[in-house]
Amino acid sequence: MKKFDLNGKVVLITGAAGGIGQAVANRLYACGANLVLTDVSADGLNRTFAALSKERVLLAPLDVTDMAATKDVVDQAVKQFGHLDMVMANAGIGAKVPSTMLTIDEDEFTKVINVDLFGVWNTVKASLPHIINTKGHVLITSSIYAFINGVANAPYAMSKAAVEQMGRALRAELSGTGATAGVLYPGWVDTNIAKVAFGGHDIATKLVQHAMPGPFGRRVKPDEIALAVVAGVERRASQIIAPRYWIPMSWFRGIINIISDAMLDKDTKFQKLIRELEQKQ
Ligand SMILES: NC(=O)c1ccc[n+]([C@@H]2O[C@H](COP(=O)([O-])OP(=O)(O)OC[C@H]3O[C@@H](n4cnc5c(N)ncnc54)[C@H](O)[C@@H]3O)[C@@H](O)[C@H]2O)c1
Repeated sequence: MKKFDLNGKVVLITGAAGGIGQAVANRLYACGANLVLTDVSADGLNRTFAALSKERVLLAPLDVTDMAATKDVVDQAVKQFGHLDMVMANAGIGAKVPSTMLTIDEDEFTKVINVDLFGVWNTVKASLPHIINTKGHVLITSSIYAFINGVANAPYAMSKAAVEQMGRALRAELSGTGATAGVLYPGWVDTNIAKVAFGGHDIATKLVQHAMPGPFGRRVKPDEIALAVVAGVERRASQIIAPRYWIPMSWFRGIINIISDAMLDKDTKFQKLIRELEQKQ
């Protein structure tokens, strides 16, 4: 498969104003890519990327749940740069408050799935004809939540498992076209979205401390993910799992999930935390 040299490529990133999207944007810019940086927060985009060259960077406010607006931004990108080589469907949210399916607000449940699943779909669908034209690459931000238990975070985990399937199917559908697709699985990363599980919400924090021992319960900096993205995209990797200690968890998920779910069945401390979480709402 032909290497994907990022220098001079045109890359569209959603959810670029913060966290992982921002770190990837900065790394790709340093590699010589031209960027179309989009986010629901126009202020965030302007604040974060004010210093980058206007010739190489198009800032475009975009809510990824709006298919028409997503297609419009893709058109703007192609108008400005002539083509589109890569898209990173990265925008994502978590529920405002960690909740079980019994207690979660119905609108909140739908909102998370709209952004984290349908937002990714809109981004991929709108960009795909251009990516096929340029024999480019689609990168979908999933999560370790595609393969760990999504307890107290179900709409997020459901979406992340779903977009993993989207990426796998897309890769197979693109085979032979010269274009490729890959899935990014970040572990815990020090960004806004993860704050809730690291001090932002007491029970969510206790749940992570209880269920995720050692390095599995630690956050890494967004730039660590960005470095893995650059290395993975350059070789058109089907999977980018970072940090690397999550790789065996993904490879052996079949058996690990059976064991870990059975352990949760019997874990009274865990069950007490879940009931406390429900009573708090
Ligand atoms: N931080 C983690 O621990 C972690 C782990 C695995 C996967 N991820 C995934 O990485 C991606 C980036 O998240 P992050 O950790 O950088 O968090 P973040 O909150 O820093 O970044 C998410 C960005 O998406 C934007 N956004 C939210 N809703 C949007 C919408 N409707 N349309 C367009 N943009 C929207 C936000 O404004 C924000 O800039 C998400 O898909 C997230 O699920 C994060």
